[in-house]
Amino acid sequence: MVRLPFLSSTRSVPEASKVPRHIAIIMDGNGRWARKRLMPRVAGHAKGVDSLREVIRSCLDRGVEYLTVFAFSSENWRRPKDEVSFLMQLFVKSLKAEIDRIHRNEIRLRVVGDLTPFDEALVSLIRDGEALTAGNGKMNLTICANYGGRWDIMQAVEKMMAASSTSGGRPYSEEDLAPHLALSFSPEPDLFIRTGGEQRISNFMLWQLAYSELYFTDKLWPEFGEAALGEAIASYQGRERRFGRTSEQLVSDKPDTTSDHA
Ligand code: IPE
Ligand code: IPE
Ligand code: MG
Repeated sequence: MVRLPFLSSTRSVPEASKVPRHIAIIMDGNGRWARKRLMPRVAGHAKGVDSLREVIRSCLDRGVEYLTVFAFSSENWRRPKDEVSFLMQLFVKSLKAEIDRIHRNEIRLRVVGDLTPFDEALVSLIRDGEALTAGNGKMNLTICANYGGRWDIMQAVEKMMAASSTSGGRPYSEEDLAPHLALSFSPEPDLFIRTGGEQRISNFMLWQLAYSELYFTDKLWPEFGEAALGEAIASYQGRERRFGRTSEQLVSDKPDTTSDHA
């Protein structure tokens, strides 16, 4: 059986730390931010890059180990052609402009999603950035691009079936699937944040959000920054993470890392 480096929240009780170890963000509301200012929607995307820079800085300062952001969903291709092409160009431009800063700050960059429809130039920029920062260990920044939670589960199932010797005829388990998920290098998110007021998951990290604390804010992504992140973390710190247990058990139990039902 392939052993994952991280505990699954449904197979055992992970340790919950004060500072979320992994924060996952749906950066939403760029278009509305711009329209409110009578600017084209894409101006909101450009401004959103500044918010991302500030949030990365703040996560670094706070000792967050994994930051995963949703930049482009598998459904965002449905948008007007011009907006999609602006987003692709912005991705290229921002990667070029920021990669040195990312590296200097000892951040490891990964881009997760189905990259096949992307421009060759963008894909090679991504691969170069990943290679450059592969040895960095201060924080893991993951950008989800042409990513969808269902895509991830389906591609993982395909890989699991291809490696079907792992099952050896017994029923498949979480442990067989999980190593093939695109985000298998990270623990599950402790804190999920969605800006922009919508209270939905929009096909983001469907598998991994099983026991994440969900935080929704009306703040639009271009106005989200250090202070707003602090509020989200404060809300997280006030939550009781029970992972299926009772409140009473939490008082008496130490975080339990043994498997529940193995
Ligand atoms: C999020 O902002 C960015 C992407 C989806 C690429 P939106 O563009 O969805 O902004 P709103 O939700 O229309 O305001
Ligand atoms: C989710 O936002 C995707 C990203 C932020 C990249 P959307 O704006 O696409 O989500 P819906 O369409 O409102 O659900
Ligand atoms: Mg939106």
